[in-house]
Amino acid sequence: MYFDFSRFSPLERYKLLSSTVTPRPIAWVSTIDATGKPNAAPFSFFNVFAEDPATLGFAINHRSDTDRKDTGENVRLQREFVVNLVSADLVEKMNVTAIEFGPDIDEFAEAGLTPAASTTIRTPRIAESRVSFECRLMQVVALGTRRSLVLGEVLAMHVRDDAVLDAERCWIDTQKLQLVGRMQGHQYLRTADVFELPMIPVDVWNAKTGDR
Ligand SMILES: Cc1cc2nc3c(=O)[nH]c(=O)nc-3n(C[C@H](O)[C@H](O)[C@H](O)COP(=O)(O)O)c2cc1C
Repeated sequence: MYFDFSRFSPLERYKLLSSTVTPRPIAWVSTIDATGKPNAAPFSFFNVFAEDPATLGFAINHRSDTDRKDTGENVRLQREFVVNLVSADLVEKMNVTAIEFGPDIDEFAEAGLTPAASTTIRTPRIAESRVSFECRLMQVVALGTRRSLVLGEVLAMHVRDDAVLDAERCWIDTQKLQLVGRMQGHQYLRTADVFELPMIPVDVWNAKTGDR
């Protein structure tokens, strides 16, 4: 089936994109408002893009032209945020923080999460999360009028001790993190079904297929 995007509404394009670009990692973003009250919310339009500067990004779908979600307002105001990752044991709490609460509600308290002090920024991380990235805002890229791509530089990261194989070599035991991904709609996936597929050096490939 061929889908010509010029014929579709934004909602239809969202349905086509979000049900095929899967599984998506989930950025569980913590921020603080003008009074220092913490906020947390999940964003699955998320990925990592570079290591120098270490760059990750997530996209906010505004509720309206004037309501950029609490996360969007806080990120613009404070110019910093924490991206926490979601392991399987935390999905229920993550889901509570996705409720469309007003800015007066502290999602940490609602979901029973513990704020832990960050080292390089004022925004707390989620203590229960096995991985957290302390980020400084690089830029907010407007994607049309209803989405913003938030790009952040990772200043530091926290990884739960039992998932660190060798800190000197920066070796992490990814399986220990038990991260989940988002599939279509409200479906999620555990990252336990792992297999190896080494890259093929070009000379090995040429030897196998014969010289061309
Ligand atoms: C798994 C999951 C992924 C989500 N991904 C996004 C996303 O990529 N962009 C977005 O704008 N909202 C996303 N949402 C919805 C927000 O989390 C929700 O609107 C939240 O209430 C925003 O909170 P805030 O106003 O405190 O920022 C997602 C929700 C869930 C459960």
